[in-house]
Amino acid sequence: MVGRIVGTGSYVPEHVVTNDDLSKIMDTNDEWIRDRSGIAERRISMDEGTSQMAAKAAGKALEDAGMSADELDIIILATSTQDNLFPAGACEVQEMLGAVNAAAFDLSAACSGFLFGISIVNAFIQAGIYQNGLVIGAETLSKVMDWSDRSTCVLFADGAGAAVLKADETGIRHTLMGADGKKGSVLSCVGRTNGNFLNGRTPEFGYTYMDGREVFKFAVKKIPECVDEILEESGESIDEVRWFVLHQANRRIIEAAARRLKQPIEKFPMNIETYGNTSSASIPILLDEINHKGMLKRGDKIIIAGFGAGLTWGAALVEW
Ligand code: ACO
Repeated sequence: MVGRIVGTGSYVPEHVVTNDDLSKIMDTNDEWIRDRSGIAERRISMDEGTSQMAAKAAGKALEDAGMSADELDIIILATSTQDNLFPAGACEVQEMLGAVNAAAFDLSAACSGFLFGISIVNAFIQAGIYQNGLVIGAETLSKVMDWSDRSTCVLFADGAGAAVLKADETGIRHTLMGADGKKGSVLSCVGRTNGNFLNGRTPEFGYTYMDGREVFKFAVKKIPECVDEILEESGESIDEVRWFVLHQANRRIIEAAARRLKQPIEKFPMNIETYGNTSSASIPILLDEINHKGMLKRGDKIIIAGFGAGLTWGAALVEW
């Protein structure tokens, strides 16, 4: 048995912030942001936290799957912007959904988090330990942006996406996960929480720092490598892949990956124009969008791939 994605859901905050809106609070403009990233607008949360958005996306995914919350065995919330250090946001989601039988924990792998989450739930299902799992990617990145750092803050946004996995004959066929801690400093949000009465330090929470060029170079190389590796492991041909669902970090990264893979850009659905980079939420939000547009047919082969802070990366070959 493997995990099959039987339901998807997403939720984004109501408040739309356009590039023109940003140009009123910093020295930027619509043309620069669109050209460099493909982003036209994004959603920013006024008051909703990560767990609330996660629960809303998860509720929709459960409804889509026709599954009740108490059937869930495990809930993983992939996030880098949890509301509290503890309890885990996944436990708050468990409570909000009424998923009383599910183990619940958070997973920190930045933009690769959703992929890591489905890999873990799939492994539990393959091992025969669990039958039904919920994986959510949810972020309120707006709270960890330095809104005076125009090169980074214009890219990131808030949102949540979720998928329900169920044990079945086919579904997630291969997964890979990787990390390179040596490159951690190119994309980070450093919080110094090591204060106590002995050292006299008080906790400090920082903002996101990104070396955009380094991340760009890494992503453009890593995504095709992940795709090639997963195709080799599965023995599947690239031309059999119906869709490449990639982390929505930057339109130029996705276009470069398509060129390197020699695949038509039409096989790479994108919604970065509307939502910006929502980190762990970007893949499940996109998956939900194409699912509900009827673009996914039973038996379609899809490659999901992402990369993020850590640095981390991951990919999955999924039969819908
Ligand atoms: N508006 C206007 N001008 C800007 C802005 C802005 N928002 N930001 C930077 N600039 C200016 C810079 O100051 C610089 O001006 P200068 O030449 O006078 O010094 C000029 O634009 C070029 O800046 P660069 O940083 O060199 O711009 P670059 O072409 O590299 O694009 C970007 C920056 C978009 C961040 C690019 O490096 C990139 O796409 N990197 C990938 C990063 C990414 O996608 N991150 C998200 C993924 S990470 C993740 O999801 C985990």
